Amino acid sequence: MTAFDTQRLAEAQTAFRRAFGNTRPTHLARAPGRVNLIGEHVDYAGLPVLPMAIQRDVMIVFRIRPDATARFANCIESFALRSFDLRPSMPPYPNGDWGNYLKAAAQGLTSRHGTLTGIDAAVCSSVPVAAGLSSSSALVIATALALLTARDVTTDVSELMELMARAERYVGTEGGGMDQAIALGGRRGCAIRIDFDPMRLTPINVPPHWRFVVAHSLVPAAKSGAARAAYNRRRGECEEAIAAVAKRVRAGERIDSYAELLEGTDSERLLRESERVLSGTLRGRFRHVVSEASRVVKAEAAMARGDLEQFGQLMNASHKSLRDDYEVSCKELDQLVEIALRAGACGARLTGAGFGGCIVALTGADRAEGVLGLLADEFYAKREVPGDLSDHLFMAKPSDGASVRAL
Ligand code: GLA
Repeated sequence: MTAFDTQRLAEAQTAFRRAFGNTRPTHLARAPGRVNLIGEHVDYAGLPVLPMAIQRDVMIVFRIRPDATARFANCIESFALRSFDLRPSMPPYPNGDWGNYLKAAAQGLTSRHGTLTGIDAAVCSSVPVAAGLSSSSALVIATALALLTARDVTTDVSELMELMARAERYVGTEGGGMDQAIALGGRRGCAIRIDFDPMRLTPINVPPHWRFVVAHSLVPAAKSGAARAAYNRRRGECEEAIAAVAKRVRAGERIDSYAELLEGTDSERLLRESERVLSGTLRGRFRHVVSEASRVVKAEAAMARGDLEQFGQLMNASHKSLRDDYEVSCKELDQLVEIALRAGACGARLTGAGFGGCIVALTGADRAEGVLGLLADEFYAKREVPGDLSDHLFMAKPSDGASVRAL
């Protein structure tokens, strides 16, 4: 554990005692945030993505209760204590309430494992909230591990990834499965290619001199806010687009996903045909998904052979496609990308769902400080930055996935 993590563990223990009196937590569950390196808005189309887990995580210290009540305190004081019964059906809190991520995990586990055992818990997170770094899935996964430990059941990790991907839809976002899978399956020093239907994880070593700079646009991208409707709409548009193209190129066949469509027909032909049957928005959405899929394949190969420049160029192309065809960027994200590239990054792109949140920039170790410096001077120095700059601008390290242990 780093000194930073030891300090956060102490904070969580203090929050626990403040909320529940003079008892001590007996276990610690933790789950990391993630940065997606490439393969954006394609997981729900069934296509591979390439994220890595990061060193920032959600920690939950907890103690098992003798009944079926779950109580969660939070180190962030504006997140008030949440207490609920672990019943087969748990009605949600109002939209946007942090307790809904706790209930999402609990509801998902109940549907699979029956009645759960209660816990008293305190949460301390170092994953910036609403920043596109998947703080919500980290919370869902850490909660699930705590509740599974209390119930004393072991479960297959792949099954838990799929279960939690479905469970998080409780909050109303029709997400794919990337965030839950990487929170569980991250590996130190590696990016992970995630394939879907069924989920499979393949680690790829990140070359040791590659650096990933994460920079927050300071535009919140909350899964429960306006971004949710925009996200769900993109998903619907993708489905509409594939139905039209599949009807033309694979008439008579049942094609349920982009993965199936791409398996039988090469992407050049698909793009040509899509221009005949699609126009405007749907044409752009389709082009993004199909072109991003081929960038993921090339990016994985570039990482495996240590080709920094090529990986960077693919990130740049991904950002353009997300900006112009998928329309999920915003001016602050575009500005961060522009500054990072000017500072000497090999590539930069928005990461996560977009509509605000963060960019990720790739650079060699020799240029990383320069990229951090120019972003600080040209973006953050001109704005009011809430809290510590290091929460908005930092170097992401490829890290391990979730775990639980006795204290
Ligand atoms: C969110 C979702 C993911 C994925 C990304 C966009 O993070 O939770 O499933 O769709 O957006 O790539």
